[in-house]
Amino acid sequence: MSSVAYLVFVHYGFYKLVIKSMRRVKIIGTGSYVPEKVLTNRDLEKIVDTSDEWIRTRTGMSERHIASEKDKASDLAIKAAHRALKDNNIPSEDIDIILVATATPDMFFPSTACFVQSSIGTKRSVAFDISAACSGYIFALSVAEQYIKSGKYTTVLLVSTEVCSRYIDWTDRNTCVLFGDGAAATVLKGVNGNRKDGIISTHIYSDGRYADLLYMRGGGSSYPLNHESIDNKLHFLKMKGNALFKIAVKNMTEVAREALAFNGYKISDIDLLIPHQANKRIIDAVAKNLDIPQEKIFINIEKYGNTSAVSIPLALDEALKEGRIEKGDLILMVAFGGGLTWGSALIKW
Ligand code: ACO
Repeated sequence: MSSVAYLVFVHYGFYKLVIKSMRRVKIIGTGSYVPEKVLTNRDLEKIVDTSDEWIRTRTGMSERHIASEKDKASDLAIKAAHRALKDNNIPSEDIDIILVATATPDMFFPSTACFVQSSIGTKRSVAFDISAACSGYIFALSVAEQYIKSGKYTTVLLVSTEVCSRYIDWTDRNTCVLFGDGAAATVLKGVNGNRKDGIISTHIYSDGRYADLLYMRGGGSSYPLNHESIDNKLHFLKMKGNALFKIAVKNMTEVAREALAFNGYKISDIDLLIPHQANKRIIDAVAKNLDIPQEKIFINIEKYGNTSAVSIPLALDEALKEGRIEKGDLILMVAFGGGLTWGSALIKW
């Protein structure tokens, strides 16, 4: 190679590196879908020994949406995905990768993401699921961020979808009042330039030592579905709510603080906090720890209950549609879920 060709080669490589390091990840479309059927606290009073008052004061929930018998996680996901693509007229051919965050997939395999891909018609996109229970969205956002910032992919369709109602023991008042169904999608795009908007950072964690605080044992290779596992109700979600509550408050507080400290921000810089909506009292305790005023927190738990991986992108979509987010706003998302898993994302809008 001549010295001139060598210099051009080196400079081109350097240029590509600089471009990649300036690559930002922007959210360019959002959309959500919740099933029509609404299950109110009053309806639940007729199913288990509970009361509207108990559910509202202990959780902040008033109603939740429940998928129809024929609706699968992918059906909800596809509806939300179409809305997110339509939001900014994003052609489906642009999608490089489809990530589906779900704890309630259509089936073990193929992935729910493959069903979404087939319906949306993005033949060249790769598609796979991400399992991190209620933290699924932040985990998937972090994966998308790495793929885009590395230059591997440019456009990511991230869909959270849950049909929690199918894994609930409707005779167990400890859990059946808490969860709801729905889907929410986000389209992310890599853009170059030295502006400051887009995902600033994501921070994700897991601690498998606490796996027994929230799980669904049946149906996998440890307890395959058979008469015995079904008689023992292993195909239903089990939760140790009290223990989870305390760890959720601690870990959500810490990971929120980490996102701010990592980027040199203070809590007063935040324009909107979008927390996972598992329990209003968890959100209140985190808000108290962070010393962030209620008006800077987006809460819609009263309408949807805990929709697991869907809760944050559903809240984001609603916040945008309600005009709660403006260009230049600093958004902090914070999640917590089974695994245990938890994480945060800081975004400049
Ligand atoms: N209606 C009436 N009474 C009830 C109900 C109900 N639906 N559920 C429980 N109770 C009773 C209990 O039986 C108990 O009665 P007892 O004192 O006679 O034994 C009493 O209420 C108190 O129960 P606790 O479990 O102590 O109630 P608590 O105030 O802790 O609230 C809850 C329970 C809502 C589950 C709370 O602990 C919680 O939100 N935990 C965190 C859940 C969480 O973090 N989830 C995130 C992850 S979700 C994911 O990853 C998919």
